Amino acid sequence: MESSFISDADTVAQWRDALDREGKKLVFTNGCFDLLHVGHVRYLQEARALGDAMVVALNGDASVRELKGEGRPVNTAEDRAEILCALECVDRVVVFDEKRATRVIDIIRPHLYAKGGDYTPESLNPEERAALDRADAEICILSLVPGKSTSATLKRMQDDGAGDCANGTRPRLAVLGSGKGSNFEAVARAIDAGTLTAEIAVVISDMADAKILELAKARGIPAIQIEPGSEKGGHLGDAALKEIVDRLTAASVDLVILAGFMRIVRAPLLSAFAGRILNIHPSLLPKYPGLGAWRQALKSGDSETGCTVHLVDEGVDTGTILAQAKVPILPGDDADTLHARIQEQEHRLYPQVIGEQWKSHATADPQA
Ligand code: GRF
Repeated sequence: MESSFISDADTVAQWRDALDREGKKLVFTNGCFDLLHVGHVRYLQEARALGDAMVVALNGDASVRELKGEGRPVNTAEDRAEILCALECVDRVVVFDEKRATRVIDIIRPHLYAKGGDYTPESLNPEERAALDRADAEICILSLVPGKSTSATLKRMQDDGAGDCANGTRPRLAVLGSGKGSNFEAVARAIDAGTLTAEIAVVISDMADAKILELAKARGIPAIQIEPGSEKGGHLGDAALKEIVDRLTAASVDLVILAGFMRIVRAPLLSAFAGRILNIHPSLLPKYPGLGAWRQALKSGDSETGCTVHLVDEGVDTGTILAQAKVPILPGDDADTLHARIQEQEHRLYPQVIGEQWKSHATADPQA
């Protein structure tokens, strides 16, 4: 294939030998790299850092079609090669038209072979694996960025076109949390799986070391820490409230999702997002609002408790109830086992209610 961005495998093999003589290592990776996204970029940078130079073996157009189906690739091999070559971490691109990269591995004989974390050395294609063994290449499996893939990008674009919501768009969510972020992760996974049509535009925390910020960063989602101010009793200071509203507005947020956010919300945040702020609470409200709700349920000798998704008003866990899930309290339960079972229900219920709430909101207000 002729292109100034596409190298011939034999020429790359000669270059590999020259690198070898200098004691340098050539990294090899292969893939379709159709619609380049941040997951690709981070993966390629990580792969390149394993050695001194890198060649990307790019599946040709027929090969992509065979692997991914009709309608793929979106971009031609020439265009994909040119885009890859524009990255600092990519030194050469070779195109192969077969389904597997076996032939180019045999020609190039790389020192290192990098592959994404959806594989293990054992689950690599046996022919490719044999070629790597012949080349005596070291195999390195790199972690993938969750939720980032060309297929997910295409699905999002198709869903937008189909108009799942009344106004034909997917809601942009802000998730606010102070802690470990398991509900954030549940919402993000529901989006990845296509069971919730939404996009997480930003994650905000009042705690610098909150795990929720780490989880958001790992997914490439903007993660912001705000200074809560010195107000007592779980209240946010005026400056913090203003900063949150400014951040949400800048990120064009549609719905605000509180997920373990240990602060009381008030104007101007409440007024700016009236009827569009949701919270999840670990009890069957109106029972046990406030902190440690599952401990209160356990102490009271109740036979069941659960979780509640509700709209947020100026009170503590007092807004309109949208949905609840019950959880039995079992003999032998302690605070940890009970909370863990409540959280299982939270992770199922919250994404579902977010989707339903957006649909009913968008139907009531077509401008939403
Ligand atoms: C959950 O139990 C939720 O009900 C409460 O805070 C906890 C947050 O957990 N509001 P996580 O940070 O989402 O794991």
